[in-house]
Amino acid sequence: MSPMLELAVVVPVFNERGNIAPMVAALDRALAGRHWEVIFVDDDSPDGTAEAVREIGRGDDRVRVIQRIGRRGLSTACIEGMCATAAPLVAVIDGDMQHDETLLPAMADALAADAALDVVIGSRFVAGGGTGAWDRDRVAKSALATRRSRRVLKADLSDPMSGFFMIRAPLVRALAPTLSGIGFKILLDIMTASPRPLNFKELPYMFRTRGEGESKLDHVVAMEYLIALYDRMFGRLVPVRFVMFGAIGALGVVVHMAVLAPIVALWGERAFIGGQVAATLVAMTFNFFLNNMLTYRDRRLKGTRELLAGLVSFALVCSVGLAANVGVATYLHSAQSNYWAVSALAGIVVGAVWNFALSSRFTWGR
Ligand code: GDD
Ligand code: MN
Repeated sequence: MSPMLELAVVVPVFNERGNIAPMVAALDRALAGRHWEVIFVDDDSPDGTAEAVREIGRGDDRVRVIQRIGRRGLSTACIEGMCATAAPLVAVIDGDMQHDETLLPAMADALAADAALDVVIGSRFVAGGGTGAWDRDRVAKSALATRRSRRVLKADLSDPMSGFFMIRAPLVRALAPTLSGIGFKILLDIMTASPRPLNFKELPYMFRTRGEGESKLDHVVAMEYLIALYDRMFGRLVPVRFVMFGAIGALGVVVHMAVLAPIVALWGERAFIGGQVAATLVAMTFNFFLNNMLTYRDRRLKGTRELLAGLVSFALVCSVGLAANVGVATYLHSAQSNYWAVSALAGIVVGAVWNFALSSRFTWGR
């Protein structure tokens, strides 16, 4: 056995307790004769995944855990895992046995054989690979996501959605500060972050069906994927979070009107002020919860106390933002009264930037 640590296998896990022991056993079989370690990166799963890793780790020092508190996210979990090892090679593999761990030695050998090679990718879409028992809907979604990514990627990857690959550790550490860390697609993130095209090689594997536990890929994840692509293309100009915050703000205007209109219709103009107050409160609460779920999903406030405190601080921030909005609009309008729409728009932008900057610092800041 080589005396030097050769490979770290990073396994992002959320509620995968039942898969930990099978995973370690499978790695032990696949990597027999090599010097490796496995790092499970867990986001404080309620099912006790981290403890399941520790139980094994106490008797086997190749088995490690990173337990993150108050955080969620597959990509950031992978990034942190890859930065937490002394091994020269790191692999990322799902913790639910869907990826084929028996491919790992071939991946390591390919990297050892060719110094110019940066990354070896497990692909379901080269000859010999496959998606196993996927239903047609999932196949179609995956194909769509793959086509979307091509435009950003400018590389001929057959399976850019793959979450199964091996890369040189110093390279990934060098890229880490520029990774967006949004969503599920860590490989895509790495490939597009690199200033030079990475040399890659694809090895086929069969995507297995999940045994224990359930998938975490939901609609929010699908949306995060689109956001991640946006971030790569335009994120430097206007940050993703601000775009989401703004879009949710625009939805808030719709909610506001939907509350105000029936009140005015029912009770006439004299109810305007009251209706305006009610509409503002409803829209603000709506915005708060939506931002908490989407814009700040990774720092989501939870529990009654945290949510209540968040809502109050959000309301305070927004009331100042509103004053700034009206102030700027009034000022511009008095200076140049021909352009009322421009004045109003300027007010809205100033208010939105204020709300965004301060709420990200105080309402969702840690
Ligand atoms: N730490 C952490 N935090 N782990 C997570 C999180 C999270 O928020 N969400 C998911 N995971 C873990 C799961 O526990 C699992 O080990 C792995 O990430 C993949 O999650 P699944 O929920 O099983 O995803 P999937 O099977 O739908 O998608 C996988 O296959 C895709 C191929 O289409 C992922 O590996 C994708 O990366 C891959 O591209
Ligand atoms: Mn899975």
